[in-house]
Amino acid sequence: MRKNIAAGNWKMNLDLDASVSLAQQISEQSVPAGTAVILGVPFPFLFSCSLHTGTNPNVFLAAQNCNEQESGAYTGEVSLKQLKSVGVDYIIIGHSERREIFNEADELLAKKLTAVLDAGLKCIFCCGEPLSVREANEQSAYVEAQLKNGMFHLTEQQLESVILAYEPIWAIGTGKTASPEQAQEMHAHIRSVLKNKFGAAASEGISILYGGSVKPANAKEIFAKNDVDGGLVGGASLKAETFIPIINSF
Ligand code: 13P
Repeated sequence: MRKNIAAGNWKMNLDLDASVSLAQQISEQSVPAGTAVILGVPFPFLFSCSLHTGTNPNVFLAAQNCNEQESGAYTGEVSLKQLKSVGVDYIIIGHSERREIFNEADELLAKKLTAVLDAGLKCIFCCGEPLSVREANEQSAYVEAQLKNGMFHLTEQQLESVILAYEPIWAIGTGKTASPEQAQEMHAHIRSVLKNKFGAAASEGISILYGGSVKPANAKEIFAKNDVDGGLVGGASLKAETFIPIINSF
């Protein structure tokens, strides 16, 4: 079922005290009906934050990455079983920072996505083009290829456990937001790509989030667009004062 979603991606920010305090403040909010809040918390703080998110049925916990293997000799990696055991609901897969800085290619992301769903967890799957692609006006084909390579192997039923996030790389952490029209245009394109592959019901049922410099000042205007079902928020999700107004922007 398509929902309004305010998701925060804390990235590699905050310490234990700040994480727990933020998770507590957000979890104490009464979330508007039809809206879900997801907090993307750094690995070490997931369990402590779960003690707060677990108290609010509309607030969920996300990890920012996972390993696709079940278990074993993978020093420094974290498995889905481990994440599930500390109360994680969602895994963020395919963020542009993982694609670009950690060289995660479509093929690996497709494997991670399958592993997430096989583990009984849900996924926020990210896509989005770099500035050079936008300047060449090739963003539609670029994002379509990311979807084809990363998630076209799923069944229609599996798609129900996926949230999509469109994050144009040129808008991430730059203060330069895509216009509501640019976001709507890409989200409608994504929905039509999904409709061709998975059918109308599946494409209408999936939530598609916009990410890239979402703030209290622009969230309402962006979320008001037909095919924008919420946001994946970086910087503005790190403080209750800026994230709570975004939760209330639908
Ligand atoms: P900012 O909101 O800081 O631009 O980050 C967006 C993002 O990458 C969320 O995943």
